[in-house]
Amino acid sequence: MNNRTIAITGGAGFIGSHVVRLFVKKYPHYNIINVDKLTYAGNLENLKDIENEPNYSFVKLDICDYEAVYELFKSRGVDGVIHLAAETHVDRSIKDPFTFARTNVMGTLSLLQAARRYWDETPAPQGVRRLFYHISTDEVYGALEITDPLGIEPPFTTKASSGKHHLAYGSKFFTEELKYQPHSPYSAAKASSDHFVRSYHDTYGLPVIVTNCSNNYGPYQFPEKLIPLFINNIRHRKKLPVYGRGENVRDWLYVEDHARAIDTIFHKGEIAQTYNIGGFNEWKNIDIIKVLIETVDALLGREPGEDMNLITYVTDRAGHDLRYAIDSSKLQRELGWEPSLQFEEGIEKTVKWYLENQDWLDNVTSGEYQNYYESMYKDR
Ligand code: NAD
Ligand code: TYD
Repeated sequence: MNNRTIAITGGAGFIGSHVVRLFVKKYPHYNIINVDKLTYAGNLENLKDIENEPNYSFVKLDICDYEAVYELFKSRGVDGVIHLAAETHVDRSIKDPFTFARTNVMGTLSLLQAARRYWDETPAPQGVRRLFYHISTDEVYGALEITDPLGIEPPFTTKASSGKHHLAYGSKFFTEELKYQPHSPYSAAKASSDHFVRSYHDTYGLPVIVTNCSNNYGPYQFPEKLIPLFINNIRHRKKLPVYGRGENVRDWLYVEDHARAIDTIFHKGEIAQTYNIGGFNEWKNIDIIKVLIETVDALLGREPGEDMNLITYVTDRAGHDLRYAIDSSKLQRELGWEPSLQFEEGIEKTVKWYLENQDWLDNVTSGEYQNYYESMYKDR
């Protein structure tokens, strides 16, 4: 295999850290550069176990700084970009949409332009397929309806969805051909970045791939997102703020399975294609929350379900998308990727990880985040 130099943006965040770890370990002959601004969501603690590997380096950089990005690509001879850096929390995007447009749109544009300029100036190393791989979300497709409140058999079963709970909440799914209909400032900014990426292929011939993935869960997720926030709150017997009636449906994938999909697509995906990534694993929020309570209680030796009274229904999120459900059959059919972990196993692993890593949680939520969290929930 060829030597390669790959810039992974957002490598200090949740998914990025799993992607960096996978590439550093699996490809010792690649140079992996983690490019991250270290916002509140970026934490080098996430990569402690690989930080001294000879094929890993970290560069603290704002992706919106076009000249600095270009200099980095040129000085290090970057021939692949896996772009994950973004502002990612929907609730924050409702409060502060400008930051989302800046990083997600202008930051992506700055990376595209830097890659285009450097790759136009310099021939690709022998045998290397240059690639700008943009990581996006299923939220760009908008929201699906819930057509059967009791749930139906999903059209496909994967390892992720093969547990006790085995439901789809409607007959429509997000496919790659679907029109974009983002509703939140977060998904609007991601949608815009996806369009810019595709435009760089169509206009300038930049080799790009875009993937749209469903909700991820697993270790190192910042505890403002549903699963880590609620695990931590259950442990400390704090209220669980369930938006609306908890009826919204999300499609969950274990983060390491997403990282494996990214590896497969980076190496085997077809240029200019879009691939959806997901496990056909739909859950209503309230059902997941009950599983979390039961799992935390069992692992802490509490009476099973004794913390159900922490569930607190609060004002719904503005523009709250009802249902996400991704059809990833193209990826399975064309590139042979499948989730490796069944959801209940993944949740148990995840709960254990957060319970065993209270220091990590305390560390990432100290300081600025506490004020943010209190301000977020004071009016609900
Ligand atoms: P995250 O919020 O945990 O991490 C984002 C990272 O980007 C952080 O390390 C942060 O420091 C960095 N970053 C932010 N602004 C930056 C800037 N201007 N310059 C450089 N670095 C910056 O995010 P995540 O959940 O790991 O998501 C990663 C990517 O995957 C995002 O593009 C997101 O849209 C996409 N995605 C996430 C999910 C999910 O469920 N989390 C699902 C599908 C797609
Ligand atoms: P989140 O983890 O923010 O991901 P996303 O909005 O990108 O899907 O939220 C997952 C679901 O959980 C979503 O329907 C909103 C809901 N939710 C709550 O009910 N309470 C909370 O405190 C949070 C953070 C989310």
